[in-house]
Amino acid sequence: MYLIGKEEAQAVARVIESGQLFRYRGGEGGECDRFERELCAKLGAKHSLLLTSGTSALICALVGAGVGPGDEVIVPAYTFMASPLAVLAVGAVPVIAEVDDSLLMDPRDAARKITPRTRAIMPVHMVGLPCDMAALLRLGRKGKIRIVEDACQAVGGSYKGRRLTTLGDAGAFSFNQFKIISCGEGGAVITSDRRIYERALIAHDGGCAFRRHAGTLNEPIFAGQTMRASEVLGAIMRVQLKRLDGILKRLRARKAAMTSVLCGGKGYVLAPVHDAAGDCGVLTAVQVESLARLRAVQGTLKERGLSASSPIDSGMHVYSNWEPILAQRAAHHPALNAFRLTGRRYTYTPDMCPRTTDVLSRTLFIATPFKDTLPRVKARARAFRAALESV
Ligand SMILES: Cc1ncc(COP(=O)(O)O)c(C=O)c1O
Repeated sequence: MYLIGKEEAQAVARVIESGQLFRYRGGEGGECDRFERELCAKLGAKHSLLLTSGTSALICALVGAGVGPGDEVIVPAYTFMASPLAVLAVGAVPVIAEVDDSLLMDPRDAARKITPRTRAIMPVHMVGLPCDMAALLRLGRKGKIRIVEDACQAVGGSYKGRRLTTLGDAGAFSFNQFKIISCGEGGAVITSDRRIYERALIAHDGGCAFRRHAGTLNEPIFAGQTMRASEVLGAIMRVQLKRLDGILKRLRARKAAMTSVLCGGKGYVLAPVHDAAGDCGVLTAVQVESLARLRAVQGTLKERGLSASSPIDSGMHVYSNWEPILAQRAAHHPALNAFRLTGRRYTYTPDMCPRTTDVLSRTLFIATPFKDTLPRVKARARAFRAALESV
């Protein structure tokens, strides 16, 4: 979250004063409904659904797309563990594909991981960067495989002029504290497929059968969970959405200033980006030749009062740390363990995606200084360049 303030506080106060905090049973047409319409208008999508988290959004998008027990879903080896956990939550098996130098799913490795059980591919637009959607959409079309985009870290980003979450069959955003816009905890499913939307709507609300809209649905109502957003979340998100374009403009301008100084430096390269105009601009990824060199650069940066993290150190975002998945403990009860439901044996090891480990170990993230003026950003970038070139 980059900005939050008085406007959000006033929006929350308005909801509390109205006494209507529930989005249904009197809340219809209120903050959540309006947010969903406004989000659709911004993205160019037909349907969206606000709910309690990005994980809930991924689960409902997968349910919407018809993914379930016996299916496999390809996920990248570098993402928050919530992406494969959502796959397990719907009873399917996450199959892990390598990322390439862009830090995003390698379409060639994804192609190698396709089996007759592959029902969906989940491209994850990490750290605001758009995946190679042309190649991944081609794979989807060729194999009649669903594409469910995880854009939890890339709200507002785009690929070749189309907003992330609208390229595949469905997509998910997270609005937790650490995302581009936020209400503390929250998420949204986006789709232009009416059937996916209806199934997501049913999945996210155990009380769906009792709502005003129940009679308007074409899908039979199945047993759902409770992942409903409150009007408080809806009200905050309506204000946050108004801030989104300004936040992205500021991030992108600062990243452009940063990369204009960093490009062409000696001893390192900038990580390739599939669509620079659509990148949210949250950070600049710089790559060196080895982990040893990366550690040396980090040491020099520290001496100079600067810092850059490496994705290899981010723990929960690296597949080798996904303990419940490596151990194939998919659920609280063995009968619900997705790994036993496909008729195939799986082997997961901490060294199964060596290219991912290698690229993450050679990458440094320089966070975009959101609040700095452009001259200060450039001065900072010059300091980073000098440190990178001195090792
Ligand atoms: C790539 C990715 N996917 C999914 C999620 C899950 O989102 P949430 O924490 O809102 O459930 C996150 C959150 O950090 C994420 O970064």
